[in-house]
Amino acid sequence: MSYEIALIPGDGIGNTVVDASLPLLDAVGDREGITLEYTEFDWGSERYLEQGSMMPDDGVDRLRPHDAILLGAVGHPDIPDHVTLRGLMLPIRKRLNQQVCKRPSILYEGVESPLRGYEGGDIDFVVFRENTEGEYADVGGREHRGFDHELAIQSAVFTREGTETVVRAAFEAARERDGKLTNVTKSNAQAYGMVLWDEIVAELSEEYPDVEVERLLVDAAAMDFIRRPEAFDVVVASNLFGDILTDVGAIIAGSMGLAPSANLCVDGDAPSMFEPVHGSAPDIAGQGIANPLATVLSGAMLFDELGEPAAAGRLRRVVREQLADPNAPRTPDLGGDSGTEAVVADLLDRLE
Ligand code: NAI
Ligand code: MG
Repeated sequence: MSYEIALIPGDGIGNTVVDASLPLLDAVGDREGITLEYTEFDWGSERYLEQGSMMPDDGVDRLRPHDAILLGAVGHPDIPDHVTLRGLMLPIRKRLNQQVCKRPSILYEGVESPLRGYEGGDIDFVVFRENTEGEYADVGGREHRGFDHELAIQSAVFTREGTETVVRAAFEAARERDGKLTNVTKSNAQAYGMVLWDEIVAELSEEYPDVEVERLLVDAAAMDFIRRPEAFDVVVASNLFGDILTDVGAIIAGSMGLAPSANLCVDGDAPSMFEPVHGSAPDIAGQGIANPLATVLSGAMLFDELGEPAAAGRLRRVVREQLADPNAPRTPDLGGDSGTEAVVADLLDRLE
């Protein structure tokens, strides 16, 4: 099989981790009879600084014919974050209808969690984040700039269709996993959108009697991600809450450098996009020490979505083996002193 993959390495360590991961994806492809044909798009902050936009006007349409998109990260210290995010990532997620963002959190054997007493295998959950609306809706405005009565309105949008889509994906995942779904909202304070959300979870739960549903307010959920992460199986949350919780999910599993994600177009009309959860990490960019594993594991999610579970399994197996090996190279975020390339070279050896 041959697949067309759009690459957007982006900014900072995004370039490092995407470049480093490609030989590994190719090597796995070779073994499974899969060819990945890449088209690279040099979009991002450098383009913005030179030409005034993160990507061309027809950027999203140029991505559309591909089978999948692999993105590194975007973000630049000299450009406001809302400009970079709204110039590239958000339009892609929205216009390619990637309604569901899936972010697993796994504490691998050999990785130290900042949580006392947790060992490999103790943490293993997946967050389903609503990905095209909610608090990230482009609805609002600013008035009377510079005056004392200056105001800003930022509205959240919850549609029945958007909410049902992510909630259903979460129920399906729970059914495949341990049969437990945690619904995270803040319906005590946000009595319109989040109450609709809760109602939809209750309605859909009738279709999934085999899935146990737990309800948590987001503040309690943030606490419980730290207090009892072992209790979570599948978590479903709005765009903003899912974003915040998955940073907690990444760090309790050892590092931002280990957390992968998938932005899924569930109706299949457009490509899905795979990216590490982390950003462009300007504090370590250009040093060759970024952890590539979040991107490699995003590559495994990409193979899964292409319908190539054997390739995905191979990638996850070598990552698992490497992390469990105390003598294997590690990047500094995992307490080691190796660089990105050494980690990938070791993974390539393990594929043999
Ligand atoms: P960040 O994720 O870039 O970095 C947070 C911390 O984690 C830093 O100390 C960084 O060195 C470390 N880190 C992240 N990824 C790592 C890796 N692969 N290996 C080793 N260490 C790693 O988040 P931050 O600093 O808040 O944002 C930096 C820029 O990235 C901002 O411009 C922000 O807007 C952007 N950003 C972009 C995202 C994306 O493209 N999906 C997501 C989050 C932030
Ligand atoms: Mg985030």
